[in-house]
Amino acid sequence: MKDILDKLDERRAEARLGGGDKRIEAQHKRGKLTARERIELLLDKDSFEEIDMFVEHRSADFGMEKQKIPGDGVVTGWGTINGRTVYLFSKDFTVFGGSLSEAHAQKIMKVQDMAMKARCPIIGVFDAGGARIQEGVAALGGYGEVFKRNVIASGVIPQISVIMGPCAGGDVYSPAMTDFIFMVRDTSYMFVTGPDVVKTVTNEVVTAEELGGASVHTAKSGVADGSFENDVDCLLQMRRLMDFLPSNFEAGPPTWPSFADIDAIDESLDTLVPDNPNKPYDIKELITKVVDEGDFFELSAAYAKNIVIGFGRVAGSTVGFVANQPMVLAGVLDSDASRKAARFVRFCDAFNIPIVTFVDVPGFLPGTDQEYGGLIKHGAKLLFAYSQCTVPLVTVITRKAFGGAYDVMASKHVGGDLNYAWPTAQIAVMGAKGAVEIIFRGGTPEQIAAQTKQYEDRFLSPFVAAERGYIDDVIMPHSTRKRIARALAMLKNKHAEMPRRKHDNLPV
Ligand code: HXC
Repeated sequence: MKDILDKLDERRAEARLGGGDKRIEAQHKRGKLTARERIELLLDKDSFEEIDMFVEHRSADFGMEKQKIPGDGVVTGWGTINGRTVYLFSKDFTVFGGSLSEAHAQKIMKVQDMAMKARCPIIGVFDAGGARIQEGVAALGGYGEVFKRNVIASGVIPQISVIMGPCAGGDVYSPAMTDFIFMVRDTSYMFVTGPDVVKTVTNEVVTAEELGGASVHTAKSGVADGSFENDVDCLLQMRRLMDFLPSNFEAGPPTWPSFADIDAIDESLDTLVPDNPNKPYDIKELITKVVDEGDFFELSAAYAKNIVIGFGRVAGSTVGFVANQPMVLAGVLDSDASRKAARFVRFCDAFNIPIVTFVDVPGFLPGTDQEYGGLIKHGAKLLFAYSQCTVPLVTVITRKAFGGAYDVMASKHVGGDLNYAWPTAQIAVMGAKGAVEIIFRGGTPEQIAAQTKQYEDRFLSPFVAAERGYIDDVIMPHSTRKRIARALAMLKNKHAEMPRRKHDNLPV
């Protein structure tokens, strides 16, 4: 009997060694952890239950029958993060470069299916060279099966992708269909085709980092939702993120003990908006003063900075925040900002996370650049996303809410449940100067000045909208957290439904 038990130990030890000490050392030299070290950091201590440790590929081409490594380049299983179950797969770069074979794909599919059955989130850690070149179409088929499962799980369980090394070819499309993608700076990159193919096809010379490094995808393409300094920081932040996310679309947001006083007022908010309407202020100051313990998990912080999105908690429960940022482009809505916020709003709605929207928006960004880039369709994405929400929507207009952007930003008209404004709010078709120059075209400077003053007095306040009931109340800035908390508590059991249909037709 002892022999049999020892044999199991031996086989386990062999599997845990992956591609061997030399390749593990090379992995460490590059500043990267191994697949199993990553899992240890991501999950609660000793909570990991590995499955399919002994799976091997079945390929017999190119001498592969002589190269079999148990696990076949991906470590799969489940465990807990602060006590809540998550499923995961972590690509092992030390085994055939983490490349995807038929057997490797089947391991991923198995945990995808298990996560769906158990209605628990799934996290994929990527560090791989794409399709197993020796396997050809068997690997392509495997990718297709994984992709299909990503789509079936979308909106049912949260799916998170963490890129911690190369991620190319077939590997990029699974993350692209998950809810969030995070990268590690300097050691990870994502692209459909690598620098060599780029050079052959377009004659463009580009490094892997320039083509698809974290700085590209978090700031330029918007493909990734955040990046971190190293593996350790990234994995600890993933633990923090998971604490904000529901386990599935029916579970509702998780609630954690909160010691922050809901009734506390914050006098500093009374002077947050400057007297000069053209002077910026940092909307993140408002967000951090509204959320419990100032804990705000910002997403896509380096992309379309004119809008801020992320998770916080109010009274211990997760809330999604969307806020125009007056510090960048005066908080204007452009194509990138609209797409960024639309996707986040849809995530929150899909997973029943209430949304708080802070509005200070001078309108949509004018110009050929935006119009040629499809601003109409991109802006419509955000409008569509808010309009189809059935989760609680609480909106606070802090300053400008001009033009179509007023409607878009969770106004009463598209489904806002409680719409508040600060006394500093200005709700109008456009700013006073622009408006007067159109309706009094050709007027003398004195006439224009007089009419501008009149327009400002009449329209640039929250009261015209409040008189119509478009604003439910004009609130004191210092009481914002309290008012939001009460609104969310009142809306806790909100029930709203969209009409039955096959699915909507979002302006993608
Ligand atoms: C099999 C692979 C592999 C692959 C890497 N390896 N990629 N084995 N299939 N796709 C193996 C190497 O042979 C090597 O094995 C080990 O992994 C480490 O690779 P290195 O090249 O030594 O490492 P590095 O210099 O860091 O380069 C990493 C890399 C490079 C950038 C990922 O290996 C690379 O370019 N690989 C190929 C990428 C690619 O073109 N993939 C196919 C994409 S097409 P040893 O034994 O020496 O340790 C695709 C289509 C799917 O995915 C489309 C579906 C929609």
